[in-house]
Amino acid sequence: MPDPYVFVGPMLRRLDPECAHEATLAALAMGLAGHARWRPDPMLRVTRFGLDFPHPLGLAAGFDKDARVAGRMLALGFGFVEIGTVTPRPQPGNPRPRIFRLPADGALINRLGFNNKGLEVAGARLAARRGRGIVGANIGRNKDSSDAVADYVAGFRALAPHADYVTVNISSPNTPGLRDLQAVASLRPLLEALTAERAQAAGAVAQRPLLLKLAPDLADADAVAAAELALEVGLDGLIVSNTTIARPPDLGGPHAGESGGLSGRPLLARSTELLGIIHRETGDALPLVGVGGIASAADAYAKIRAGACLLQLYTALVYRGPALVHEIAQGLVALLRRDGFAGIEQARGVDAGKR
Ligand SMILES: Cc1cc2nc3c(=O)[nH]c(=O)nc-3n(C[C@H](O)[C@H](O)[C@H](O)COP(=O)(O)O)c2cc1C
Repeated sequence: MPDPYVFVGPMLRRLDPECAHEATLAALAMGLAGHARWRPDPMLRVTRFGLDFPHPLGLAAGFDKDARVAGRMLALGFGFVEIGTVTPRPQPGNPRPRIFRLPADGALINRLGFNNKGLEVAGARLAARRGRGIVGANIGRNKDSSDAVADYVAGFRALAPHADYVTVNISSPNTPGLRDLQAVASLRPLLEALTAERAQAAGAVAQRPLLLKLAPDLADADAVAAAELALEVGLDGLIVSNTTIARPPDLGGPHAGESGGLSGRPLLARSTELLGIIHRETGDALPLVGVGGIASAADAYAKIRAGACLLQLYTALVYRGPALVHEIAQGLVALLRRDGFAGIEQARGVDAGKR
């Protein structure tokens, strides 16, 4: 059967990007997108944080901010799905337009600013979810909050009971001051408050994996310091990376000058480089989720070889549609076999020592 996104994609791309996204979510919520008709090769399985991932490629945060379609995205073939970012109270985000396509660069710029319906809505949807598959919850703080730590603790308390893991997002560029939390002096009290909240939770929530998502714009040494702190306080992994505020000089098209976070192909090199640097410094102790610019099996494989055990993407889905997930999974199997690896674990980090 031909890939329907060959027809649907160009139609969606004639719409304003945010309208196209809303139409996509509505169609997904109605069940119009169907199911993947493939099964991942067993050599792609990954076990981390006590969770069994059928393959390593997940949907990155931001696509399903309010946990509307997590089950549908799993059905389309993703190995796991991260919902959010969710803030304690609902908030509208920045004025529109706030998402811009840069098709020649395979990129997007967004300055959404955590538009979302808040913890109550996301928590209720996650709690009502039936069906299998790994769903993580990404938490943030409200723009007008005066107590960031309290916001993240509230996020953990509300969503950890209903999610397979929780991601602490302090790296979006569109909430003023948010990324300052990445400095060790602010990060320590935040992470300690979260691990303390987790430690006194009841039942399985006391073991809920906590991940931290970093920005690619951190200086290498600052990213390594954040990673070492994450290890020290008992976090379970890092997500590397969020969008970038950097702009490559050759970025093209009418929207290249828009402010916000740049994602997609121009982010691939730096996010993979930073992943490698962190893996080199922290070794196998800290599981790393590689995200940023993945649009092919080769990109995914490069992140695994740099040190990722799991992967996520978002921007390439906009340009290529869900068939890309299968293409990457199949391509990864071929690349692992070509190089004589039995699975993801054997290939993980083999390039980390190289500069
Ligand atoms: C439109 C859009 C919205 C996003 N919203 C969030 C978000 O709410 N929280 C978050 O942690 N990351 C968010 N991201 C960042 C992605 O999760 C991902 O880290 C980044 O886009 C790099 O991956 P990619 O190049 O495959 O898109 C967003 C990205 C895009 C394009």
